[in-house]
Amino acid sequence: MTLDLSVADAAVKPAKTLPDAQTVTSVQHWSDTLFSFRVTRPASLRFRSGEFVMIGLPGDNGKPILRAYSIASPNWDDELEFYSIKVPDGPLTSKLQLIQPGDEIILRPKPVGTLVLDALLPGKRMWFLATGTGLAPFASLMRDPETYERYEQVIMMHTCRTAEELTYGRELVENLKHDELLGEIYGEDFAKRLLYYPTTTREESPFMGRITDNLTSGKVFEDLNLPPMDVANDRAMVCGSLAFNVDVKAVLEGFGLREGANSDPKEFVVEKAFVGEGV
Ligand SMILES: Cc1cc2nc3c(=O)[nH]c(=O)nc-3n(C[C@H](O)[C@H](O)[C@H](O)COP(=O)(O)OP(=O)(O)OC[C@H]3O[C@@H](n4cnc5c(N)ncnc54)[C@H](O)[C@@H]3O)c2cc1C
Ligand SMILES: NC(=O)c1ccc[n+]([C@@H]2O[C@H](COP(=O)([O-])OP(=O)(O)OC[C@H]3O[C@@H](n4cnc5c(N)ncnc54)[C@H](OP(=O)(O)O)[C@@H]3O)[C@@H](O)[C@H]2O)c1
Repeated sequence: MTLDLSVADAAVKPAKTLPDAQTVTSVQHWSDTLFSFRVTRPASLRFRSGEFVMIGLPGDNGKPILRAYSIASPNWDDELEFYSIKVPDGPLTSKLQLIQPGDEIILRPKPVGTLVLDALLPGKRMWFLATGTGLAPFASLMRDPETYERYEQVIMMHTCRTAEELTYGRELVENLKHDELLGEIYGEDFAKRLLYYPTTTREESPFMGRITDNLTSGKVFEDLNLPPMDVANDRAMVCGSLAFNVDVKAVLEGFGLREGANSDPKEFVVEKAFVGEGV
């Protein structure tokens, strides 16, 4: 009997049918509007935590529907994780929300983005400021040991309309506080170095209010027992809707921080969590 090796091999490892195909390894739905998933990582893909790539699926006409997605996993992870909105009738996410383990997605392996550690001057405290799925790049940066090498404290402020929309971020932070790798590197005090400030705006929860309001009123500094932001010590990364980005930029500038870039590091950087109407 001759063994058809191509068939045996295909049974173990399905032939890749899409260009730049990666295989979905797990999917978790967090609400009617949010889900996360993990895919295989191309062996050649190197990225800096906080960057985004283009991912997608073939459209009905065979042409790929591609969208920008922040990589939510840190750069040391063997797989890639993404955290996604489900837009009703969205060209990509109406299909993407149906993916199952074993399915393939398209992933263009060209990471880019402004939310990288090198785009900021050294400082003492790093503020991650996000609304909605704008948490995704910080899900990567919070899990990267280099963030804690560079900053004594990391403060994750995440605001959503409802408490349910905070769940992915909340579980991630809770798991991180007991993370073996970070605990090994930074000891028992690690949990104190990552401060989490989740708020809601349209549903009662322990902490309420927009990020902009909690910064300008000083409430977040009082609640976390921190001094107000200053240019010598505080650095920030911002990721949310266009309206949020515009408003929070003005707040940060009010504290004396200046917007930087990869080529010109300063005290804060901004990236859109999605393209849409907003101001
Ligand atoms: C740099 C960058 C990084 C991004 N990273 C992510 C990410 O990590 N996760 C993610 O879910 N999306 C992310 N997006 C948005 C993403 O590119 C798509 O817009 C989203 O997947 C919806 O695709 P769609 O084709 O279904 O709808 P689209 O036609 O792209 O969007 C339709 C409308 O839905 C709204 N919308 C789109 N995305 C979002 C969102 N994330 N949150 C709230 N409202 C939204 C907007 O009003 C938009 O006009 C990012 C966008 C940019 C520019
Ligand atoms: N998430 C939902 O339940 C929902 C429902 C229907 C439609 N949509 C649509 O989907 C899109 C995205 O929704 P989303 O919930 O991810 O984003 P979003 O509407 O931008 O709201 C996310 C969070 O950011 C806050 N925020 C919005 N603009 C801000 C600003 N300028 N400064 C400070 N904080 C700001 C919101 O507070 P406020 O609540 O105070 O605005 C909310 O807590 C929007 O176009 C929205 O109209 C969302």
